[in-house]
Amino acid sequence: NSRPIFPFPANEPTCDYAPGSAAREALERHLADRTVVDVPAVIGGRKIYSDDVETVHAPHDRSRVLARIHRPSAAQVAEAIQSNLEAAHDWARMDFADRAAIMHRAAAIIRGRMRHRINAATMLGQSKILDEAEADSACELIDFLHFNTHSAQRVVQEQPLTVASAQNRTDWRPLEGFVYAVSPFNFTAIGTNLTCAPALMGNVVLWKPSMKSAWANHLFFEALEEAGLPPGVINFVPGDARMVTDAVYGSRDFAGLHFTGSSEVFRSLWKRAAAGIDQYRTFPRIVGETGGKDFVLVHRSAHPEEVAVALLKGAFGYQGQKCSAASRAYVPASLWPAVRGTLCDLLAGWRVGDVADAATDMGAVIDETSFRKLASRLAAAKGDPGVKVISGGRCSDEVGYFVDPTVLQVDDPGHALMKEELFGPVLSVHVYADADWSDLLHVVDSTSDYALTGSIFCTERAALLQAQDVLVHAAGNLYVNDKPTGAVVGQQPFGGGRASGTNDKAASWMNLVRWTSPRVVKETY
Ligand code: ALA
Repeated sequence: NSRPIFPFPANEPTCDYAPGSAAREALERHLADRTVVDVPAVIGGRKIYSDDVETVHAPHDRSRVLARIHRPSAAQVAEAIQSNLEAAHDWARMDFADRAAIMHRAAAIIRGRMRHRINAATMLGQSKILDEAEADSACELIDFLHFNTHSAQRVVQEQPLTVASAQNRTDWRPLEGFVYAVSPFNFTAIGTNLTCAPALMGNVVLWKPSMKSAWANHLFFEALEEAGLPPGVINFVPGDARMVTDAVYGSRDFAGLHFTGSSEVFRSLWKRAAAGIDQYRTFPRIVGETGGKDFVLVHRSAHPEEVAVALLKGAFGYQGQKCSAASRAYVPASLWPAVRGTLCDLLAGWRVGDVADAATDMGAVIDETSFRKLASRLAAAKGDPGVKVISGGRCSDEVGYFVDPTVLQVDDPGHALMKEELFGPVLSVHVYADADWSDLLHVVDSTSDYALTGSIFCTERAALLQAQDVLVHAAGNLYVNDKPTGAVVGQQPFGGGRASGTNDKAASWMNLVRWTSPRVVKETY
């Protein structure tokens, strides 16, 4: 189908949750609702409630039980794969416009009827403040559906040259088999993208969400079902990661992996695909977006106040639990007193606490494992003579898993704190001599094992171009005079290289072509 039916979309505007508004009241009703939600697996359209239940608590209030996630058994995951394969034939043959219409209907359901509920689930389950939840489970989620549709349409419209003697055509077939989508806790919208991008291209998808976001992800799944997604096209299996992965990798029909999570898990999933390569019908497509140690590089020509605001938002938005979070900064000695002063002033007014409270700037980190790791890293940093605590450093798990926004000054730019991803509210700053700018660029590049996002604050064109040149492979998304977080779907296609993933740019044609195995047909007469 080549009719241009989905014009270039606009980004979803944010909802105005002004105090006293109907939207605010609806959201607050959902936030106050203490009903414990049962989240089933959904296989072939059937909801499966099992005895094997994982209980989800609010990270900022450990005593509050939110949901019981019903984990499917290994046999049920095998059934889910079978059900995917049974749905594959009809879904692949459905007109692209009809598949797209289902995605658009799902977006309309989220926007019109589910927005406040899914935002509340994201706030409570993943400990996000309202602004962060609205940007994620409403705006980005809806944008993924609209922009993927538009980009997928561009892909399927791409056709070869037809000449008098031969009519040529590309059939944009899906992969042969099923796609395994593994989504993380930190963005509800990522689960939507990891499943719907391959599904739009005609694939069937087995979806294993993180347990921490399974509640919000399941709400989206309900919207998809209500929008008319045929049973079995996407199966929702919030199961034990190892068990689900074993079932997937044991299947001859495993055709693709769409992953967002840690580099370590992605590597292990890649190795397992390689180890099993003889048994698969097809070479599985492997697409992953993983970690980051995202830099903010400041030149002496930058404006210190702008840098401080970017560091605050980039490092501590959503507790630093974004793969794009600013987690290391390089500040010239001449600007450091002004940057440090403004950043510390801003942090003095920064509130950590219950995300349902409108005055809160930052919630809790996701779970005990994350809390313990951060607490131990901060304890080590405090005892390290090469590290100075500039702000924060305290942790408390009495009520929830709270870690203060923390700024560390690190002498050695090769220190682990300048290289390793912590996935929490910790910013490491290296202060360099202004004259060392050129050398510093090479230091930043050589310590960039990850290469997801980065920011350069600079108002001198020559220095900016020099930095972009030396750091050419150090970031897949580079920001000039802005924070390194908050890529907007359709505006900054997102993804990075090195240990940060395969850089197949989410929600763009670059990602969508990975989910096709085109057949080119030449007809002569
Ligand atoms: N896409 C998200 C961001 O840019 C991770 O912050």
